[in-house]
Amino acid sequence: MRRLAILVALTGLATASQAMAADDGATIYKRCAACHLADGSGVPGAFPPLKADVRSLAATAAGRRYLALVVIRGVSGPITVGGKAYRGTMPAQAGLNDAQVAAVLNHVIRGAAAKPFTPREIAGYRAGSAGLNSAAVARLQPGIAGK
Ligand code: HEC
Repeated sequence: MRRLAILVALTGLATASQAMAADDGATIYKRCAACHLADGSGVPGAFPPLKADVRSLAATAAGRRYLALVVIRGVSGPITVGGKAYRGTMPAQAGLNDAQVAAVLNHVIRGAAAKPFTPREIAGYRAGSAGLNSAAVARLQPGIAGK
C-alpha cells in the first residue's frame, strides 16, 4: 500500500515537471539548439543564427507569419540571414502546439522590442498553412532592410 502511494506521488511529480517543460520556451529551445546552438549563434553556411534578423522579422506582420511558419512547416532555402545565403533544409518542428510555438519564438526574440507571440496569433498563421511546403515558406521570408 505504501509503495503504491509513493509510486502515485512520483508519477504525479513526473507529469507535473513534463507539463512545465513542455510549455517553457527555454526548454523547448533545446531541440532547436541541436542545430542553431544553445546561444542561437548558428553555424555559418549551415544553420543560420537566430539573432538580429529574427528580432527584426518579429517587428513586422509578414515577418511574424514567416517565423511561425518556419517552425510549423519547416524551411528550405535559398534564404538570406545575416547577409549570408543558406540553401539547407530545416525540418518542420512537428508536435509543437500553438502555445509551444509562441513560447519558443518568444524565447528566441527575448530582449527584442517586438511584442510577444501569443498562441492565438500562432493559430491564425497555422490555419490554412497545410498546403505550404518548406520551399514555399522560404519564399515568404521578407527582406531585411539594409542587407
Ligand atoms: C535539424 C536542424 C534544425 C533544427 C532542429 C531547427 N532548425 Fe531552424 N533552421 C535550420 C536550417 C538548416 C535553417 C535554414 C534553412 C535554409 O537554408 O533554407 C533554419 C532556419 C531557421 C529560421 C529562419 C531564420 C531567418 O532569419 O530567416 C528560424 C527562425 C529557425 N530556423 C528557428 C528554429 C527554431 C525556433 C527551432 C526549434 C523549434 C529550429 N529552428 C530548429 C535547421 C534547424
